[in-house]
Amino acid sequence: MIQLNLQEQLQKAVLSLMPDADVSKILVRPCPEPNFGDYQANALIGLAKRNKLDPREFAKQVIGKIDVDKFCEIVEVAGPGFLNFRLKTQFISDTLLSACKGDHLFLSASEKPRTIVIDYSSPNVAKPMHVGHIRSTILGYTLAKAFRLLGHKVITDNHIGDWGTQFGKLLFGWKEHLDKNALSIDALAEMERLYKLVNAACDNDSKVLERVRYELVKLQDGDKENLLIWKEMIDLSRHQFDEIYSRLRVDFDETLGESFYNDRLKGVVDELSESGIAEESEGAKIVHFDSKALRKHPAMVQKSDGAANYTTTDLATMEYRENSWQPSEVIYVTDGRQQLHFQQLFELYTRWQPEHEMKLNHVWFGAILGEDGKPFKTRSGEIIRLNHLLNEAEQRAFEVVTEKSPGIEEDERREIARVVGIGALKYADLSGNRQSDYVFSWDKMLSLVGNTAPYLLYAYTRICSIFRKLDSDTILIPKSFDLSDLEELALAKHLLRFGLVLEQVIEECRPNFLCNYLFELAGYYASFYESCPVLQAEGDVRTQRLALCDLTGKVLKTGLETLGLETTERM
Ligand code: ARG
Repeated sequence: MIQLNLQEQLQKAVLSLMPDADVSKILVRPCPEPNFGDYQANALIGLAKRNKLDPREFAKQVIGKIDVDKFCEIVEVAGPGFLNFRLKTQFISDTLLSACKGDHLFLSASEKPRTIVIDYSSPNVAKPMHVGHIRSTILGYTLAKAFRLLGHKVITDNHIGDWGTQFGKLLFGWKEHLDKNALSIDALAEMERLYKLVNAACDNDSKVLERVRYELVKLQDGDKENLLIWKEMIDLSRHQFDEIYSRLRVDFDETLGESFYNDRLKGVVDELSESGIAEESEGAKIVHFDSKALRKHPAMVQKSDGAANYTTTDLATMEYRENSWQPSEVIYVTDGRQQLHFQQLFELYTRWQPEHEMKLNHVWFGAILGEDGKPFKTRSGEIIRLNHLLNEAEQRAFEVVTEKSPGIEEDERREIARVVGIGALKYADLSGNRQSDYVFSWDKMLSLVGNTAPYLLYAYTRICSIFRKLDSDTILIPKSFDLSDLEELALAKHLLRFGLVLEQVIEECRPNFLCNYLFELAGYYASFYESCPVLQAEGDVRTQRLALCDLTGKVLKTGLETLGLETTERM
């Protein structure tokens, strides 16, 4: 692919001058100022300075070695030592042509495919999923798609919370206070009610507390009745999670809950103790860290009552993943409040298994806020249920679609509203910097203008409508592309950057790069469409412009699908 080739050639040229240089940071990126060029590399400056060379001189030497005649005009040194690359129109035309023929869509699968495990969604049994979980689900699923699109092998694993002390309370509640009718209507809500009820009772009734402990111990010892109830709680919860996943069109390769690792927990703690990593402290087992960040934050791996915890389970999980799949990277998608946990986990795992070579990556995100800037809740202050949220998204999108296209049959409008509403919810979540808190706003996410799902989905329908007007025998592959109009050229160059953007998305786990790219693509396309007649054009020009529309539509659709959005042909 073009930009990666540029980068490869540049790195080669640098190595020929400086055989020991670390060139992994010598990157080629879109030029921020199109007047100067299409792509730019600015990392040579730092490299030259570190080696006490004059950056501009060094840049000139690199140009003397670089072999990019096939793609580029003369490479120029600019400012303090940037390299600017301008693509040859011939090369752009050839690339468009091969894309028209279906050879690629401006991206190529990695020549060195990696295996990546992505842990996302991971809700807790017997608790309803809420808006916080939607971020993990949407983000994780998108990352999986982006990695796969670039040829990597991905294993997605839903690490549901199906074990832990909460089951003592739940079991007691289930046995003493279960409302079967409520359970059949909304199982998670009923289990949540039981949990809260017992939790409150524990605070002021030591008898209840005792019973709760007793039920938990019985479960841990494999008591038949308790195991059955526990299994039922998991089944009911998973059923409800699955309803949401199917509405979100999200799936997983594996759903290995925390309980899957129970048998291994004691062994993990023993190994940590034997190797001197974990030490005894007031009956518990804890681990101290040397690193500055964690010096004040020891991690517990076994409580004083002998029970393992979240960290122990995660250690066992990581070991299982390493042994089963040999991934080069494990990605955890959770909210930012778990940063300390994952710092501890990663450091601890590396001490326990010093040979491992996995990149351990906590991809965290900020909170969802209401328009008042406070945590997003319902009017009466309750946690918002995902199910209700999805209903509302579809209903509101239905109003938008109805206002726009009252002529479409109601059934079809409902289906369009589903695609637009769920898409809007996802897109709003993905299009911001994930680490910033994000303010939830129906009006913004459903707006037909701006960087929103409805805007992009609508842009896609406009492209589709062009092709509905064509005769079936219209030729869609031109002999070549002239790109003589500025708008054509700008659109074409942007199309060529699709693969690069995807690389950036997986490198930093930031789908918002792709959102921005698609928003810009729609903008370039709109300018092109405004100044370059397509259907009214004739001959070769018409064929070339139709092909540009077609390629734009394909990139837009693939990009939206990578973000987990469905598309619609009408809106
Ligand atoms: N169940 C946890 C929660 O809801 C998230 C689990 C994330 N994954 C992990 N391997 N720790 O907070």
